[in-house]
Amino acid sequence: MSYENILVEQKDSRAVITINRPTKLNALNKATIKDLQEAFKALDKDKTVKAIIITGSGEKAFVAGADISEFAHFSERKAHKLSEKGQEQLFSFVENLSTPVIAAVNGFALGGGLELAMACHFRVASDNAKMGLPEVSLGVIPGYGGTQRLPQLVGKGIAMEMIMTAGMMDAQKALSHGLVNYVVTQDELMPLCVKLASKISNNSSVAIGYAIKAVNAGFKNDVDGYKAEIKAFGKCFGTEDFKEGTSAFLEKRKAEFPGS
Ligand code: COA
Repeated sequence: MSYENILVEQKDSRAVITINRPTKLNALNKATIKDLQEAFKALDKDKTVKAIIITGSGEKAFVAGADISEFAHFSERKAHKLSEKGQEQLFSFVENLSTPVIAAVNGFALGGGLELAMACHFRVASDNAKMGLPEVSLGVIPGYGGTQRLPQLVGKGIAMEMIMTAGMMDAQKALSHGLVNYVVTQDELMPLCVKLASKISNNSSVAIGYAIKAVNAGFKNDVDGYKAEIKAFGKCFGTEDFKEGTSAFLEKRKAEFPGS
C-alpha cells in the first residue's frame, strides 16, 4: 500500500512507520492521520509483523503537533468531532493494538506528537528530543489524550506543570520522569529500537497481545484490571503459543511460536 505522508518499511518481523512531512516538522494534518490509521490497521492484521516502530523523518522532529493551520478556524462542534474521531481512530487505537508499538522520538514531540508517542506502548528518545504539550499557549488544551496519558506516565504534578506552562522537557528529564525508557544519540536511536523490537519478536505475540490488554485495563475507570488479567491469563492456556512455549522449555530448546 502506498501513502501520501508516511513511509512504511517491513523487514524481518518488524515494521517501521516514518511520518514524512519534514518541511512541516511532521505535523499531523488530516491526510497524515488517515495514512497512520490505515497503516496501523494493516500492520496489526499482518501476522508476520511482531513489532512496529514509529518515527519522524529528518533530524529535527518526531512530530511538532497537530497541524495548526488545519484547525485554526474550527467551530466548537468541529473541534469536538476532531478530538473524538482522532482519539478513537488513531490514538486509542494504537494504545489498544495487540502488536507492540515503540515510538522512536527523534526530535520535537509536541502536542499531538507527544500524544502520539504516549499512545505507543513505550518510548525511546534521542538526546536532542524535546517533549511538551504547548496547547494552552494556543488557547486550547490537548485533545488527543494528552491530559490523561501524561499524568499516567509522569504523575499528576509534573503533568499539570508541563500542561500549564506549555514548556518543553528535554530527553534526560523525560527519562528521569519515566516519559521515555532510554535516551541515546540520534545514530543509536533506530538500532536500539530495532534491537528491542527483535527481542519482543522472540516472544509469543499472542501472549504479548493479552499482556497489553491487561496492562491497559488497569488504566480504564470502568474495568477491573485484576479481573482482566485473570481472564487473559486463562485464555493464554488455550493457545498454541502456550503449548509451544512450555514444551520448548521442558525440552530445553528455543520456542518457535506459531502466533496462534
Ligand atoms: N502545525 C503546522 N505547521 C507546523 C507545526 C504545527 N504544529 N509545527 C511546525 N510547523 C511548520 C512551521 O509553520 C514551518 O512551516 P513554514 O516553513 O512553511 O513556515 C515549519 O513547520 C518549520 O517550523 P519552524 O517554526 O520554522 O521551526 P523552528 O525550528 O523555528 O521551531 C518549533 C520549531 C517546534 C518550536 C515550532 O515549529 C513550533 O512551536 N511549532 C508548533 C508546536 C505546537 O504548538 N504544537 C502543538 C500544536 S496543537
